[in-house]
Amino acid sequence: MSNPKPPFKAILVDVPMPITTSRLLIRACEPGDGKLLNEALLESNADLRPWMPWARTAPPTVAESEENIRQSCAKFILREDLRMQIIHRESGKYLGGTGLHRFNLEHGIFEIGYWIRSSESGKGYVTETTNALTRFCFGALGARRVTLHINAGNTKSTVIADRLGFKFEGCLRNQDTYSDPTLGATDTNIYARLSLEGLPALDVSW
Ligand SMILES: CC(C)(COP(=O)(O)OP(=O)(O)OC[C@H]1O[C@@H](n2cnc3c(N)ncnc32)[C@H](O)[C@@H]1OP(=O)(O)O)[C@@H](O)C(=O)NCCC(=O)NCCS
Repeated sequence: MSNPKPPFKAILVDVPMPITTSRLLIRACEPGDGKLLNEALLESNADLRPWMPWARTAPPTVAESEENIRQSCAKFILREDLRMQIIHRESGKYLGGTGLHRFNLEHGIFEIGYWIRSSESGKGYVTETTNALTRFCFGALGARRVTLHINAGNTKSTVIADRLGFKFEGCLRNQDTYSDPTLGATDTNIYARLSLEGLPALDVSW
């Protein structure tokens, strides 16, 4: 009689870090990141506020940002949420946040999230990050499905999905409770990739 399959344990899944591209270092949060995060958040509040609920609260103190980072470190180890930081390799500048959220590690289903600090927007860093993370999902984590969930009114984010060849699958009408309610934009568009086919070339390693 064959032995029964052992239960799947997310905490035992290897998530190799960091991920590097020619310009970027993408890594898990580390204690001490709070100061860098705080500076970027305060600079970017006007751009983040419409789309990120955590940007609509009172501005965080450095200590609160550090607390938030340390919670994310713990969740990363537990494989509950894989939040990452985007760092410019050459200068070491903190560029923004990304990560894999609402995933199923056993079945290889992932959602990528991202934001960029205002002063570094429009330089292709998020496109590069999302390309790298998509490759990481399929290449390192055995993905069968990688998604982007984007408010239908978020034009800048939609451009990234289109540029990277994510397929529009449909609109979840009135589903978004995440974005600023005063915008009246409550529809979420779902974009997905089931493989790397047609993804723009990118030199990436982990
Ligand atoms: C959505 C968001 C992440 C997009 O950031 P972004 O800076 O526009 O995205 P990119 O870094 O990929 O920049 C794309 C632009 O850089 C340009 N670019 C410059 N150099 C580039 C390069 N080397 N490679 C690719 N694009 C480059 C592109 O042409 C493009 O310009 P365009 O928008 O005029 O066409 C940003 O607006 C943001 O943080 N918003 C708030 C948070 C948010 O909405 N997150 C997403 C929730 S779903």
